[in-house]
Amino acid sequence: MIVTDSEQRISDICAGWRKDGLTVGFVPTMGAFHKGHLSLVEIAAASSARVVVSIFVNPTQFGPDEDLDRYPVALEEDCRLLEELDVSAVFTPRVDVVYPEDFSTGVYVTGISEGLCGSVRPGHFNGVTTVCAVLFGIIKPDLAVFGMKDAQQLAVIRQMVSDLRMGIDIVAAPIVREPDGLAMSSRNQYLSADERKQACLISTGLEAALSLFQTGERNCELLRNAFLDTLKDAPKLRAQYVETVDPDTMLGVEIIENPVLLVVAVFAGKTRLIDNILIEPEV
Ligand code: PAF
Repeated sequence: MIVTDSEQRISDICAGWRKDGLTVGFVPTMGAFHKGHLSLVEIAAASSARVVVSIFVNPTQFGPDEDLDRYPVALEEDCRLLEELDVSAVFTPRVDVVYPEDFSTGVYVTGISEGLCGSVRPGHFNGVTTVCAVLFGIIKPDLAVFGMKDAQQLAVIRQMVSDLRMGIDIVAAPIVREPDGLAMSSRNQYLSADERKQACLISTGLEAALSLFQTGERNCELLRNAFLDTLKDAPKLRAQYVETVDPDTMLGVEIIENPVLLVVAVFAGKTRLIDNILIEPEV
């Protein structure tokens, strides 16, 4: 497994593979791996001849009061975990490689990126789309894998890749959960013991909404309330948003006729966690 911080080297390696007719799967990450990340890598490996993982804590997607300074970094351990998987190369660029001094371009996806996380984290998705466009330009992958926990990010990336005719197949990876249901996230390590204990109610609440749907309820307000009811006795949890949206457009839905995503952002103490569940009527 090659580990490099050189843009030229990774770009040459990927170009060589493409020239040899080998497909390149790409997993962009910010490191501090958990099983969710490793599942993205496995999905990429299952459908491409070579897998490249990038590890880059992208400063432009963090707001001024967010956790950039304390975002977990574990480069050595991350590379050790990747060694055990079918990864050909790891790209670990420095900030000034991704954003040289004269860097002047931003990629902005309107609409999809504006509600939900976009409205409470202004500029966040512009940072995500810009860095992904840069990384895609360097790696030129055939496919790239993104986790469904970040459902809005996935929809925004799909829109960018389609609008800019990037020709990359965007593959969605299912959410990986802890045994008690908490969606895996690098930010879970910020949680205190009490917060961690209560945080599992986020997935319990999503399941409660799904169960209500399965009894025949189609009114989204009642599903959202079922989620909120589950958090009632958890003093460490505070919902930031609870929305029912179309999975492709991220626009609000009130009555379920087609697949709907129940998407939530919840503070456990000071740590912001996101999660979602797909609610699919039978066709
Ligand atoms: O999902 C993430 O970890 C990041 O948003 C990504 C896609 C690696 C871009 O920095």
